[in-house]
Amino acid sequence: MTKILMVCLGNICRSPLAEGILRSKLPLDSFMVDSAGTANYHVGAKPDRRSVAVAQKYGLNISNLKGRQFNVRDFDTFDHIFVMDESNYSNVVSLARHEKDKEKVKFILNEVYPNQNYSVPDPYYGGDSGFENVYKMLDEACSIIAERLT
Ligand code: 4NP
Repeated sequence: MTKILMVCLGNICRSPLAEGILRSKLPLDSFMVDSAGTANYHVGAKPDRRSVAVAQKYGLNISNLKGRQFNVRDFDTFDHIFVMDESNYSNVVSLARHEKDKEKVKFILNEVYPNQNYSVPDPYYGGDSGFENVYKMLDEACSIIAERLT
Protein backbone atom coordinates (compact mmCIF):
# COMPACT_ATOMS: atom_id res chain seq x y z
CA MET A 1 0.00 0.00 0.00
CA THR A 2 1.43 3.39 -1.02
CA LYS A 3 0.30 6.18 1.31
CA ILE A 4 0.09 9.84 0.31
CA LEU A 5 -0.65 12.81 2.54
CA MET A 6 -1.78 16.26 1.33
CA VAL A 7 -0.96 19.14 3.70
CA CYS A 8 -2.10 22.79 3.87
CA LEU A 9 -2.62 25.24 6.72
CA GLY A 10 -6.21 24.70 7.84
CA ASN A 11 -7.07 21.33 6.19
CA ILE A 12 -10.39 22.78 5.07
CA CYS A 13 -9.68 24.39 1.66
CA ARG A 14 -6.72 23.13 -0.37
CA SER A 15 -5.62 19.79 1.08
CA PRO A 16 -9.12 18.21 1.27
CA LEU A 17 -9.54 19.08 -2.41
CA ALA A 18 -6.14 17.58 -3.21
CA GLU A 19 -7.09 14.47 -1.24
CA GLY A 20 -10.38 14.03 -3.11
CA ILE A 21 -8.85 14.70 -6.51
CA LEU A 22 -5.89 12.35 -6.10
CA ARG A 23 -8.06 9.61 -4.59
CA SER A 24 -10.31 9.76 -7.66
CA LYS A 25 -7.30 9.07 -9.90
CA LEU A 26 -5.76 6.11 -8.04
CA PRO A 27 -6.71 2.45 -7.55
CA LEU A 28 -7.68 2.33 -3.89
CA ASP A 29 -6.76 -1.32 -3.40
CA SER A 30 -3.12 -0.24 -3.45
CA PHE A 31 -3.16 3.46 -2.51
CA MET A 32 -4.29 5.38 0.56
CA VAL A 33 -4.74 9.18 0.41
CA ASP A 34 -5.29 11.45 3.41
CA SER A 35 -4.91 15.15 4.28
CA ALA A 36 -3.95 17.27 7.28
CA GLY A 37 -3.35 20.87 8.30
CA THR A 38 -0.28 22.31 9.98
CA ALA A 39 -2.60 24.38 12.22
CA ASN A 40 -5.20 23.11 14.65
CA TYR A 41 -7.87 25.76 13.93
CA HIS A 42 -10.26 23.42 12.12
CA VAL A 43 -9.72 20.02 13.74
CA GLY A 44 -12.90 17.97 13.31
CA ALA A 45 -14.40 20.46 10.82
CA LYS A 46 -15.79 19.64 7.39
CA PRO A 47 -14.09 21.18 4.36
CA ASP A 48 -14.96 24.80 3.52
CA ARG A 49 -18.30 24.90 1.63
CA ARG A 50 -16.53 26.51 -1.36
CA SER A 51 -14.15 23.54 -1.63
CA VAL A 52 -17.09 21.15 -1.30
CA ALA A 53 -18.90 23.08 -4.07
CA VAL A 54 -16.05 23.12 -6.57
CA ALA A 55 -15.39 19.41 -5.94
CA GLN A 56 -19.09 18.70 -6.50
CA LYS A 57 -18.96 20.66 -9.75
CA TYR A 58 -16.32 18.20 -11.00
CA GLY A 59 -18.12 15.12 -9.68
CA LEU A 60 -16.25 14.59 -6.40
CA ASN A 61 -17.81 14.37 -2.96
CA ILE A 62 -15.45 15.64 -0.24
CA SER A 63 -18.19 16.70 2.19
CA ASN A 64 -17.51 13.91 4.66
CA LEU A 65 -13.83 14.68 5.25
CA LYS A 66 -12.82 15.91 8.72
CA GLY A 67 -9.99 18.32 9.53
CA ARG A 68 -7.02 17.06 11.49
CA GLN A 69 -3.61 18.43 12.40
CA PHE A 70 -0.36 17.11 10.94
CA ASN A 71 1.74 15.30 13.54
CA VAL A 72 5.19 13.73 13.61
CA ARG A 73 3.81 10.16 13.34
CA ASP A 74 2.64 11.06 9.84
CA PHE A 75 6.28 10.75 8.75
CA ASP A 76 6.11 7.06 9.69
CA THR A 77 2.70 6.42 8.11
CA PHE A 78 3.10 8.17 4.76
CA ASP A 79 5.43 7.56 1.81
CA HIS A 80 4.82 10.93 0.15
CA ILE A 81 3.85 14.22 1.82
CA PHE A 82 2.73 17.00 -0.55
CA VAL A 83 2.52 20.58 0.73
CA MET A 84 0.77 23.55 -0.87
CA ASP A 85 3.12 26.42 -0.03
CA GLU A 86 6.38 27.52 1.56
CA SER A 87 4.92 28.03 4.98
CA ASN A 88 3.45 24.51 4.97
CA TYR A 89 6.85 23.25 3.85
CA SER A 90 8.75 24.90 6.66
CA ASN A 91 6.16 23.90 9.27
CA VAL A 92 6.23 20.25 8.24
CA VAL A 93 9.99 20.06 7.77
CA SER A 94 10.53 21.65 11.18
CA LEU A 95 9.02 18.46 12.68
CA ALA A 96 11.26 16.11 10.67
CA ARG A 97 13.43 13.92 12.90
CA HIS A 98 16.00 13.06 10.26
CA GLU A 99 16.79 13.39 6.57
CA LYS A 100 14.49 10.51 5.61
CA ASP A 101 11.48 12.37 7.03
CA LYS A 102 12.47 15.55 5.22
CA GLU A 103 12.91 13.77 1.88
CA LYS A 104 9.24 12.75 1.92
CA VAL A 105 8.07 16.39 1.84
CA LYS A 106 7.50 17.92 -1.60
CA PHE A 107 5.80 21.02 -3.02
CA ILE A 108 2.82 19.61 -4.92
CA LEU A 109 3.29 22.07 -7.82
CA ASN A 110 6.84 20.82 -8.34
CA GLU A 111 5.11 17.88 -10.04
CA VAL A 112 4.04 20.31 -12.77
CA TYR A 113 6.87 22.88 -12.55
CA PRO A 114 9.93 20.98 -11.30
CA ASN A 115 12.12 22.72 -8.72
CA GLN A 116 10.17 26.00 -8.84
CA ASN A 117 8.62 25.72 -5.36
CA TYR A 118 5.47 27.51 -6.55
CA SER A 119 2.57 27.82 -4.11
CA VAL A 120 -1.03 26.76 -4.44
CA PRO A 121 -2.51 30.09 -3.28
CA ASP A 122 -4.58 30.07 -0.10
CA PRO A 123 -8.16 30.74 -1.33
CA TYR A 124 -9.69 31.15 2.15
CA TYR A 125 -10.07 34.94 2.17
CA GLY A 126 -10.97 35.32 -1.51
CA GLY A 127 -13.99 34.55 -3.66
CA ASP A 128 -15.23 31.44 -5.46
CA SER A 129 -12.89 31.98 -8.43
CA GLY A 130 -9.93 31.27 -6.13
CA PHE A 131 -11.35 27.82 -5.45
CA GLU A 132 -11.82 27.12 -9.15
CA ASN A 133 -8.21 28.15 -9.75
CA VAL A 134 -6.97 25.94 -6.91
CA TYR A 135 -9.02 23.02 -8.23
CA LYS A 136 -7.41 23.29 -11.67
CA MET A 137 -3.89 23.55 -10.28
CA LEU A 138 -4.42 20.53 -8.03
CA ASP A 139 -6.09 18.51 -10.77
CA GLU A 140 -3.09 18.99 -13.05
CA ALA A 141 -0.61 18.10 -10.31
CA CYS A 142 -2.62 15.06 -9.19
CA SER A 143 -2.85 13.71 -12.74
CA ILE A 144 0.94 13.74 -12.91
CA ILE A 145 1.31 12.17 -9.45
CA ALA A 146 -1.17 9.41 -10.31
CA GLU A 147 0.54 8.69 -13.61
CA ARG A 148 3.95 8.53 -11.96
CA LEU A 149 2.87 6.25 -9.12
CA THR A 150 0.79 3.77 -11.13
P1 4NP B 1 -6.34 25.91 3.79
O1 4NP B 1 -6.99 27.36 3.92
O2 4NP B 1 -4.98 26.00 4.45
O3 4NP B 1 -6.25 25.71 2.32
O4 4NP B 1 -7.28 24.95 4.48
C1 4NP B 1 -7.15 28.02 5.15
C2 4NP B 1 -8.22 27.72 5.94
C3 4NP B 1 -8.41 28.40 7.13
C4 4NP B 1 -7.50 29.37 7.51
C5 4NP B 1 -6.43 29.67 6.72
C6 4NP B 1 -6.25 28.99 5.53
N1 4NP B 1 -7.71 30.09 8.71
O5 4NP B 1 -6.94 31.02 8.98
O6 4NP B 1 -8.64 29.76 9.47
